[in-house]
Amino acid sequence: MPLRKIVFPTAGLGTRFLPATKASPKEMLTIVDKPLIQYGVEEALAAGLDQIVMVTGRGKRAIEDHFDISAELEKNLRQAGKEELYEKVSRISRMANISYVRQKQPLGLGHAVACAAHWVGDKSFAVALADELIISDVPAMQQLRTVHEQTGASVIGLRQMPAEELSHYGVVDTVEENGLLRLKHMVEKPQPDEAPSNLASIGRYIFTPRLMALLHDAAPGRGGEIQLTDAIATLAREEPVYGVLIEGERFDAGNPLGFLMANTALGLNHPDYGSPLLDFIRQRL
Ligand code: UTP
Repeated sequence: MPLRKIVFPTAGLGTRFLPATKASPKEMLTIVDKPLIQYGVEEALAAGLDQIVMVTGRGKRAIEDHFDISAELEKNLRQAGKEELYEKVSRISRMANISYVRQKQPLGLGHAVACAAHWVGDKSFAVALADELIISDVPAMQQLRTVHEQTGASVIGLRQMPAEELSHYGVVDTVEENGLLRLKHMVEKPQPDEAPSNLASIGRYIFTPRLMALLHDAAPGRGGEIQLTDAIATLAREEPVYGVLIEGERFDAGNPLGFLMANTALGLNHPDYGSPLLDFIRQRL
């Protein structure tokens, strides 16, 4: 069975981006003209992952509305002859069939993924965190998929990070095996002297179904949350888990500075806004 299912956990509190995320979801923050979650869905579809489930929580209705048909808006745009905008808007509701499951309380990323267990069933599946925006020629999910298809194993996306930033991420210990990086261990948000390497997980994963069983039995870890990292560390002791160094530009758009950088970089690349934005930045320097 080809890999088609992907889980987007979107039920976190987004505390790093308060007050913007007080009443609206972090995943709806806009980079140039599209919300983060749409970039994530487009990346998944480009990698052949067209069965999508979003794990949502309180205050996340805007995500469902975004991917729904907005009949009134579409009618108004058509009547006003705004065909280009109509196409942009109606394409979103046609782009994918999306299911939603609810995480009743934000008990951690691992718990959020486990909320989709019934929907995932007994096949391998992908997970993506939409606030990690990755812009690359080969979609990041496809980079993982290639290694999954080669090995049949779980694969996680990695990036080299400066030492002072490692304490914000899951950090892995790896060993080289047949030209691939095999995970030996993974630690959630390590202190600088405890980080096993400078390779951090950046929100792209493919898992064998065994991960769901491990999450089901998982005890709360760091911060009292059910940690995905702990389940990955256990999985790596039981069966091969590989790491892939993701190629492309990556932004942690779930915090204000990363978000501003993403908007600046994508804004400068935009065919209409790039040149005036560059002029504007130059004037301010
Ligand atoms: P983060 O670690 O970024 O947490 O979660 P957060 O709550 O969203 O944001 P901060 O750190 O407080 O600013 C990583 C991903 O896991 C989801 C989030 O929505 C995000 O996509 N998540 C996290 C859940 O779905 N449920 C949870 O209980 C925790």
